[in-house]
Amino acid sequence: MHDDNWNGLALVVGTGGIGQAISERLQQRFPDLVLVTAGREGGSRHQVQLDLESDTDLERLAPALQQFGKPLRLVFNCSGRLHGPGLKPEKRLTQVTREALAEQFSINAFAPVLLAKAVEPLFERDRPVHFASLSARVGSISDNRTGGWYAYRAAKSAQNQLLKTLSVEWSRRWPNATVTLLHPGTTDTALSKPFQSFVPPEKLFSPERAADQLLTVLSTQTPQQSGSFLAWDGQPIDW
Ligand SMILES: NC(=O)c1ccc[n+]([C@@H]2O[C@H](COP(=O)([O-])OP(=O)(O)OC[C@H]3O[C@@H](n4cnc5c(N)ncnc54)[C@H](OP(=O)(O)O)[C@@H]3O)[C@@H](O)[C@H]2O)c1
Repeated sequence: MHDDNWNGLALVVGTGGIGQAISERLQQRFPDLVLVTAGREGGSRHQVQLDLESDTDLERLAPALQQFGKPLRLVFNCSGRLHGPGLKPEKRLTQVTREALAEQFSINAFAPVLLAKAVEPLFERDRPVHFASLSARVGSISDNRTGGWYAYRAAKSAQNQLLKTLSVEWSRRWPNATVTLLHPGTTDTALSKPFQSFVPPEKLFSPERAADQLLTVLSTQTPQQSGSFLAWDGQPIDW
């Protein structure tokens, strides 16, 4: 697959630091795509209002995308949450709470597979489609050497399992679909801000660099490789 032959509709969900950069780079690298962004804030910020934690919004997504009159070519889930009001990655067991586990799973695990369910009615059997989602290396169970971040880690591991399972089903039902889980590398966004002091400057990517690297990796993926968990440099990550 080459840079010049992606056309149709590209849906980017969540235009935070990485999602915004992905949207910009998609338009530059694949000018034949019609880009649609979706997020919690509708209005001028996104063409489609979508809170991934709302079933009503998810049900409205396919009809909203149909209005653009183009076949779906790419869905890129760039949403996620690590910290927020009342939410902080745990350093030890005593900090683990039911509420934080539920919140992390809601956006980092349940949302991507429910997004897949919401867009599937737009698939056409003979058309290629990419479904990409941002996971994180800390979701790798075998790579967990430092501990901590219970809820975020576990939610990303669960996302990996849910989308791997999806890739198995789609390989039978939608043989032209490619599901890819991507680790962007530590990237300078609001999500990583509180944790950047531990990261050497040369290992902290700008969102633009991260986006470019992720699109380069994604553009090499084919349906035969569906269900891969890949880092920004194209290297597979152990589950
Ligand atoms: N930055 C890193 O170093 C890093 C490293 C590894 C993995 N990742 C992963 O990369 C992804 C993007 O991270 P980022 O750094 O770009 O973070 P970010 O700047 O905080 O962006 C996160 C995005 O998720 C959206 N979002 C959250 N809840 C949502 C919901 N219910 N419905 C729809 N959208 C929702 C946010 O929308 P609002 O604007 O509405 O809040 C925001 O656009 C995340 O999955 C993260 O886990 C990031």
